[in-house]
Amino acid sequence: LVVASTFTLAQQSNLQAIECPFPEGQSVSSESECGKYSTCEWTDGRCHMVDNILGGYTVVGDAIPTARGYQVTLVKADSSATMFGGTVESLVFEVIYHESYHVQVKIYSADTQRYEVPWPLTLPDIPDTEQDYTVTVSEADTPFHFNVTRNSNGNFLFHSMGPLTYEDQFIQIHTKLASSYLYGFGENTHLSFRHKFQPRVTFPIFARDQPVGTEPMNEYGHHPYYMVMEDDDGNSHSVLLYNSNAMEYSTFQLDDGTPALTLRTIGGILDFHFFLGPSPEDLVSQYTGMVGRPTFPTYWSLGFHLSRWGYNSTDNVRAARERMKAMSIPQDGQTFDIDYMDTRRDFTYDPVNWGDLPDLIQELHNDNLKVTTILDPALVIDFDTYQPSARGKAADAFIKWMDSSLVPSDQEPEQISIWPETQDWWINEIKLFYETVKFDSLWIDMNEPANFGTNLDKPFNWPPGVDPWSLKCPDNKWDSPPYTTMMIYVGDNQSKKISDHSICMSSNQTDGTSVFLHYDVHSLYGISETEATFRALQEVFPNKRPTVLSRSTFPGSGRYAVHWLGDNSADWTQMHMSIIGMFDFNMFGMPMVGADVCGFFNEPDLEMCARWMELGAFYPFSRNHNTDGAQDQDPGVWPEVGLISRDVLTLRYKYIPYLYTLFHKSAMHGWSVVRPLLSVFPTDLISRDVDDQFLWGDGLMVAPVLTMGAVSRDVYFPEGEWYELVSGIKAATGPITNTVSAPLEVIPLFVRGGVILPYQEPSITTTESRQNPFGLTVALDNALNATGDVYRDDGESEENPISPYMSKFYYSQGKLDMDVKHGEEQVAGLFLDTINVYGHPSEPQSITLDTLPLDPSAWMYDAAYQVLTINIHAPLDVPFTLQIHWIWC
Ligand code: GLC
Repeated sequence: LVVASTFTLAQQSNLQAIECPFPEGQSVSSESECGKYSTCEWTDGRCHMVDNILGGYTVVGDAIPTARGYQVTLVKADSSATMFGGTVESLVFEVIYHESYHVQVKIYSADTQRYEVPWPLTLPDIPDTEQDYTVTVSEADTPFHFNVTRNSNGNFLFHSMGPLTYEDQFIQIHTKLASSYLYGFGENTHLSFRHKFQPRVTFPIFARDQPVGTEPMNEYGHHPYYMVMEDDDGNSHSVLLYNSNAMEYSTFQLDDGTPALTLRTIGGILDFHFFLGPSPEDLVSQYTGMVGRPTFPTYWSLGFHLSRWGYNSTDNVRAARERMKAMSIPQDGQTFDIDYMDTRRDFTYDPVNWGDLPDLIQELHNDNLKVTTILDPALVIDFDTYQPSARGKAADAFIKWMDSSLVPSDQEPEQISIWPETQDWWINEIKLFYETVKFDSLWIDMNEPANFGTNLDKPFNWPPGVDPWSLKCPDNKWDSPPYTTMMIYVGDNQSKKISDHSICMSSNQTDGTSVFLHYDVHSLYGISETEATFRALQEVFPNKRPTVLSRSTFPGSGRYAVHWLGDNSADWTQMHMSIIGMFDFNMFGMPMVGADVCGFFNEPDLEMCARWMELGAFYPFSRNHNTDGAQDQDPGVWPEVGLISRDVLTLRYKYIPYLYTLFHKSAMHGWSVVRPLLSVFPTDLISRDVDDQFLWGDGLMVAPVLTMGAVSRDVYFPEGEWYELVSGIKAATGPITNTVSAPLEVIPLFVRGGVILPYQEPSITTTESRQNPFGLTVALDNALNATGDVYRDDGESEENPISPYMSKFYYSQGKLDMDVKHGEEQVAGLFLDTINVYGHPSEPQSITLDTLPLDPSAWMYDAAYQVLTINIHAPLDVPFTLQIHWIWC
């Protein structure tokens, strides 16, 4: 048992740098105004924060041991020292040990039960007997602060400072950070992966239908989770503040340059989870162990998806599809947006322009494509002729006001709709819909939830004659909280209310047992709908892995969903931001992620769409999508983009076996799929600032061109050998930054020495590719070694009928061993035909396969490139040893 110990507070110097009072929006400029705040002091012409005991809490008595940690009581020193009123006078500070690398710290009211996030986490029943951390709290009768420290080296993880504010609708805590290498938090528009500290930047977190814009904006998901790289040794930790209320984080520097963070929320409690890593990849694994391992995507979903809003007819889909076929551009997914519906009604299709939708779906299925259809959450009110709505009413499936009347929605044009909240009814409707429309996967959108017109004088989608006031939220403590956070909404509503573009905060929602305020559970709407949709697909396709694409997400959404980064624009900066978004969501445990390729709003030109198709070919979720009314932008529209897309997607399809193997590891161990350089090279300080390059796993590096007109770019190569992926030419021995050539048709791609990438000859769908011969790209490190592996199953089953295939490859100085672990039946009839060795020092004299010599015509050596290509025909289900003999020079 670790009990509370004395906490020396030398660290309390430097608080002067924290402007006062909080939040920033209310900073004061005069001594008299500053004097109103008991936590503030006027010096040097600025209103500064002081570590004033009166502004915060005092520790009372000794720590009390609990079954798996300890508790301390805190009492507000002076209840008149308040920010917004509603002070919680007495608090419990509780430490709960979980794993050796995971500790929870909760701070909650000693007297009243406050809202806590009801979405469950996976926590161990019995804590680890060892803890790699120590949590200390200041001693009795002193201002409350707490510290979380890594035992192995004394690094601190959390080091709270200044007064804690704990009021009914305003909770605020500040901490020093171990370094300025801070990453994560979301979902936000981030212009850089690494956060900046000067000047202070405040980002809100609250699910919002907010198109991708500039910093600092809150967007579709709610992820109060961050990572800090503590030191040059690569030790890193991460922190989740498990709270679903509107919140914000704010980065700043103390006067001595120490980086610091302010966390605020306007409801719930402080519920922290600290993870110790120590590597960034350990953190993803530890975090997803608690919030849920990522779903294992179906094989086909790793293919390319074509989509747009505004096909407006089956004929236009056929035309786009013909363009793809004419140019042999690989495609596995075809998506239908809201225009396929009959007057925007979920679970219907337009009988005129989409009247032959079932035939179109059959045609696509005949081509081995899969079909995704969209569902918006709000349901048009028509209890007479629209059966889903009538059944929903009968099932009492909709969100209500406190007086039990239905909360209206302005989501669909010229009709009033209502908000579902009942999982069983939703699942049933999906099952019924499948009886007529044979979709393969579902896309759930607008689930922040997004509502046009809230708080406007006239909801703009509503039919004439409807009471113009009925979407105005009431003036109560939930819809007009004393502090709304720094939320910025730039869409159709400028009333600056927290409910803008969503539903009123004082509406009621139920999970079947408890009733919640929308104020508390707003950001959980998306994950609840995602889970229900996932369960529906499990029922429609028993034993198949569901593919659900969701816009709004929360910690744990990765268990169920694929995510795209929302409504971006055809804009070069936003292309770059999509890489940062992928890094964020890989940290959050949602590795199947991508952005709308070629941009949703605005229209890209040929160059931008070509560059974006190149980048998008390496998004885990690769989908070209655009908005209603815009010109078509599918790759076949421009012959040049079509050819570039065909080549780059063909390359993607070639390496899908590697991508799929990464996703299997992600589902098993929680590791990320797309990685920033810092995840693979955590001690490389330059890597920590690179966010315009990324890796698939730890082997394939992508360095897209993100600048208009550029035909080359600088690429940072971390330590080791790097080869051009396609040619096998040695590109660099890192660490070094080189300028590489990248004419329009080229995206710079590199394979890291020491890694073996499995591949399969590509076709235009994954169904066909899966039948083709395998190959290996063997990239040698400077000791002439490399390793890799490949996983394969039937690509879709939850429980595979036959055991999945797994083999490992070890290459060491001319000897390649393939070691089959299990699942031979999965690869019956499949062969490994080609081995490409990059960095091979000289011409082989002979090569043997399981001691039998190969005919010299079976290999080719390019001395200038040092690339050796060996043709064999080895069955994948039988282990083999290949031995290359050459003369060392
Ligand atoms: C939202 C989605 C977008 C979709 C549109 C119409 O804006 O983010 O992808 O095309 O709605 O459904």
